Amino acid sequence: MKVMRLADTSQPTQLVEASLPQPQPGPGEVLVRVAAAGIIRTELQWYPTTHTRTGEKRANAVLAHEFSGTVASVGEGVTDFTVGQTVFGMNDWFEEGALAEYCLTLATSIAPAPATLSLIEAATVPISALTAWQGLFHRGHLHPGDRVLIHGGAGGVGLFAVQIAHLYGAHVISTASPRNFDFIRRLGADEIIDSRATPFEQAITQPVEIVFDTVGGDTFLRSLPLLSPGRHAVTITADNEATEDPRIKEAFFIVEPNQRQLMEIAALIDTSKLKTYVDAIVPFSDATQAYTGSLPDRRGHGKIVVAVEPGVR
Ligand SMILES: NC(=O)c1ccc[n+]([C@@H]2O[C@H](COP(=O)([O-])OP(=O)(O)OC[C@H]3O[C@@H](n4cnc5c(N)ncnc54)[C@H](OP(=O)(O)O)[C@@H]3O)[C@@H](O)[C@H]2O)c1
Repeated sequence: MKVMRLADTSQPTQLVEASLPQPQPGPGEVLVRVAAAGIIRTELQWYPTTHTRTGEKRANAVLAHEFSGTVASVGEGVTDFTVGQTVFGMNDWFEEGALAEYCLTLATSIAPAPATLSLIEAATVPISALTAWQGLFHRGHLHPGDRVLIHGGAGGVGLFAVQIAHLYGAHVISTASPRNFDFIRRLGADEIIDSRATPFEQAITQPVEIVFDTVGGDTFLRSLPLLSPGRHAVTITADNEATEDPRIKEAFFIVEPNQRQLMEIAALIDTSKLKTYVDAIVPFSDATQAYTGSLPDRRGHGKIVVAVEPGVR
């Protein structure tokens, strides 16, 4: 199968076309014919991009671990998917990703794709929406009426966090650039702060029940004094992953695949309660550009998607 994978370490951000054997699904696995892959630019810096699960150096990784596509074949014991079915989901960071004609995943890491989305749109959802979901519900213990502070509400993860928090009855306070104010107001933000112009601590006068940091830097630690006693702050940025600070360690998490949550997210999308956005579509052969280049025709919000299958929409 054709893949786009990282070049040798002398050019760490260059993706090159290569041919790999088509994988075969083992027990509990599904082989997906990839239609489109969602891009997270910081994946170039993530540990599994350069290391194996057992800590050795990893070379030539195939990136992009969220995708849409069709089921090509299923492994032993997989009964809930059939060949040809349209799916979306994610796979393990240490496995080869979705910048490939075929991608192997656990059946429990994918779900039927939302019926109302194109395959390009569906590829923008799994990692961002699951991260927002798990951050708000599992780490943040979201309740209706909570005041939720979301840093970076117009970003790939943030736009789902704003919508989900609003949908579940929270009062949503989000930081964003002025160019994104109208956008996140439409997503459901009640208060918006331009944190580059005004320190957010000055603009927030009452405690918040959840802090959701997608920005990094000192944003997370500066947010802690705003938190109601006993409530939760979460952070997802890679620069907070390697810290020894116990306040950050406790708050940092990495999204996990979850079929049931993907199905709930798909149901919200198909009932028009949740929206996703495509920022730019990049052809497979130009996949390097998706990570490092300045892309033409950006729409301004949402995710960059690589069109893996020729002609996919
Ligand atoms: N731990 C996990 O499981 C997990 C999962 C997914 C992503 N991530 C990580 O989470 C982070 C966010 O991902 P994403 O896809 O949402 O990224 P993104 O689309 O780039 O969004 C980040 C947002 O942060 C805002 N921002 C950037 N710099 C800022 C600054 N100095 N001050 C205030 N706001 C700033 C920007 O919005 P404005 O221009 O409106 O300010 C931007 O939209 C990345 O580091 C990514 O690697 C982690």
